[in-house]
Amino acid sequence: MDDLIPALQTPTAPAGTGRVRSGMPVSRVDGRAKVTGSARYAAEIHAPGLCHGVVVSGMIAKGRITHIDPSDALAVPGVIDVLTHRHRPPLAGDDEEYKDSTAPDGAPFRPLYNDRILYSGQPVALVLAETFEAARYAASLVTVDYEAEAHATDLLAGLNDAHDASETTNESKGDADAVFARAPVKVDAQYYNEVEHHNPMELFASTVVYGDDGHLTIYDKTQGSQNCHEYICGALQLPPERVTVRNPYVGGAFGSGLRPQYQLPLATMAALHLKRSVRVVLTRQQMFFFGHRPEVWQRVKLAANPDGQLQAIVHEARQETSSFEDYTEEVVNWSGQLYACENIRLGHKLVARDRPTPVDMRAPGATHGVHALEVAMDELSYALGMDPLALRLKNYAERNPLDGKPYSSKELRACYERGAERFGWSRRPPQPRSMQEGAELVGYGMASAIWEAFVKEAEARAVLHADGRLVVSSAASDIGTGTYTVMTMIAAEAMGLPMEQVTFQLGDSNLPKAPTEGGSSHVNSVGSAIFGACDHLKRELWEYAREQEKSAFAQASFEDVEFGDGQLRLRGGATVAIADLLRAKGKDHIEATYQLSPPKDKQEQYARLVHAAVFCEVRVNEALGIARVTRVVDAVAAGRIISAKTAASQVSGGVIWGISQALHEATYTDHDLGRFMNHNYAEYHVPVCADIHDIEVIFVDEEDRIVSAQLGTKGVGEIGILGVAAAVSNAIYHATGKRIRSTPITPDKLL
Ligand code: MOS
Repeated sequence: MDDLIPALQTPTAPAGTGRVRSGMPVSRVDGRAKVTGSARYAAEIHAPGLCHGVVVSGMIAKGRITHIDPSDALAVPGVIDVLTHRHRPPLAGDDEEYKDSTAPDGAPFRPLYNDRILYSGQPVALVLAETFEAARYAASLVTVDYEAEAHATDLLAGLNDAHDASETTNESKGDADAVFARAPVKVDAQYYNEVEHHNPMELFASTVVYGDDGHLTIYDKTQGSQNCHEYICGALQLPPERVTVRNPYVGGAFGSGLRPQYQLPLATMAALHLKRSVRVVLTRQQMFFFGHRPEVWQRVKLAANPDGQLQAIVHEARQETSSFEDYTEEVVNWSGQLYACENIRLGHKLVARDRPTPVDMRAPGATHGVHALEVAMDELSYALGMDPLALRLKNYAERNPLDGKPYSSKELRACYERGAERFGWSRRPPQPRSMQEGAELVGYGMASAIWEAFVKEAEARAVLHADGRLVVSSAASDIGTGTYTVMTMIAAEAMGLPMEQVTFQLGDSNLPKAPTEGGSSHVNSVGSAIFGACDHLKRELWEYAREQEKSAFAQASFEDVEFGDGQLRLRGGATVAIADLLRAKGKDHIEATYQLSPPKDKQEQYARLVHAAVFCEVRVNEALGIARVTRVVDAVAAGRIISAKTAASQVSGGVIWGISQALHEATYTDHDLGRFMNHNYAEYHVPVCADIHDIEVIFVDEEDRIVSAQLGTKGVGEIGILGVAAAVSNAIYHATGKRIRSTPITPDKLL
């Protein structure tokens, strides 16, 4: 199609897919391209004369580089050059110029900027060669001398050195501490979550294609082509029209690709320096040195009446950040939004450590905040002698507790009911250690889950051809979540066209403006804009139909017209083909652009939240200290569901991640070296198929016209991981009577 960018290899549904409507389980339109390998990722783009860059990573946690000797590397046949802080193209010195739109407060890290070492594993040189093998070997020959300074990498050793961040949540209501002090039933406990690292299948990579005219076409692994475009033009002081950033296929990102990663400026610097195309791919080990889910310490205090009514909630967190940026997650605010309570105090502080700045990772902040709150609620249920689900229902909030705002929609009660029924929660005996099968103790646990429904500004263009083909586009991303599929569905349903006649193009910074794909907001934002663009086209067609001589549509209102099978159909039977309408107007296509500007003032009158209830069964072998999660039911209220199949896949993927967080994932630091030690797939544990058993996802009916007036959606994605680690932890307590207040729950904690 002439209005597609061919290099993006945009996927389309197979012939015969036919009419689709919201809620249908439609298979991915990009599925075939992905499993056959025809989908090309950032490191798979070829360019004539491509040069390969390999990063040399630093070995100390803090100090400065005194000397770099590249001579042995330069002697390797095929090596072209070695870039260092003393030998590179210019980088913006001004923080504001260098920052991307997702950067936290502080001075952003710049690779090869100066002699300062800010964290272990920092890039210190880039070896450029004719082949990847030559560059990789030569990188091992670069010698770097350092002058080390004392470093601090231990969060728990720095809890008393915490500082407020500007974005920090420190809200309160009533007098939580005084009420807690005199309350009849209470829980006061501390929680701790280890560092976790992103491990998407696709390695971080940038291929910079250097055009004959000096134009840079950059294929990058990112969640936002336009954010990277703006960033690289600022960081390297390039005119915007000289650069295009593309990300047509992304092999998993879930936060790691929100901020541009350092291989992007390195590859671009090298391309400018050599005036050639350059590719830089990070190794799996190097992906452990560019940002992580931060280590968090928390304290939760809950007080209740003997009948279970909550009297006070106090939730405090200490979260690590780097020495140069105040990366802040929303850890504690969820405790002001989930349960009805008159006295709430929230506190969140940061502890600066000599580590890379942490990055967003699926449901940042909430995973840990909800973990602590929901384990504490479980502890309170035992203190009260009350069923954990009954305790949640007793304190069900009908208005947002902290600010009294109404909810834009809230079907959490239906999640509790349907989830509990499907799981068989009523069969749970109240006492811990009361179920056993073979060598394993069996336990049931549950937790609530909460996330915010975000919507951002977005623009979409829709082009309808006389032959009935519809091409819709926006600079969105598909990080593996199903964006291609869901956006194609939205357009096909809106226009009443068979899905295979509709193509959605994303992944190019020149397309209409879209936000980065993050926060589970893409459908609310880009999807609503697509709906709006299609609506414009439909109104234009309706006008054309009314204008026709002796038209049966002459008196018809827009609402009287249905769109289907390439036709406009009037209630009552008259039809007219889209092709005939365009021919009569002498047009071979019509197009419309829609700019979604969310009605902020109206939206801010409501608390806009996504909810879920997670139920799980664990089996624990106490002799081995091994816990297995054998059954999970996750009941989700996330507004209208457009693509039932990809939405359920996202939630079950999130549940797997949650099980992984509960039992497997942790990156351990040697605080003498100030370095993450298990930085590889062998020692950083993620679940394999044998670790994952039954997972059932339920979507309860919900519709939200405040978050998206166009679609009624709220966003599905992050909600899948939330509550899972707490439900697992609570089930382990029910199985064993052991209360584990940290993640991951490794065998040593269960022995
Ligand atoms: Mo979102 S943190 O990009 O999964």
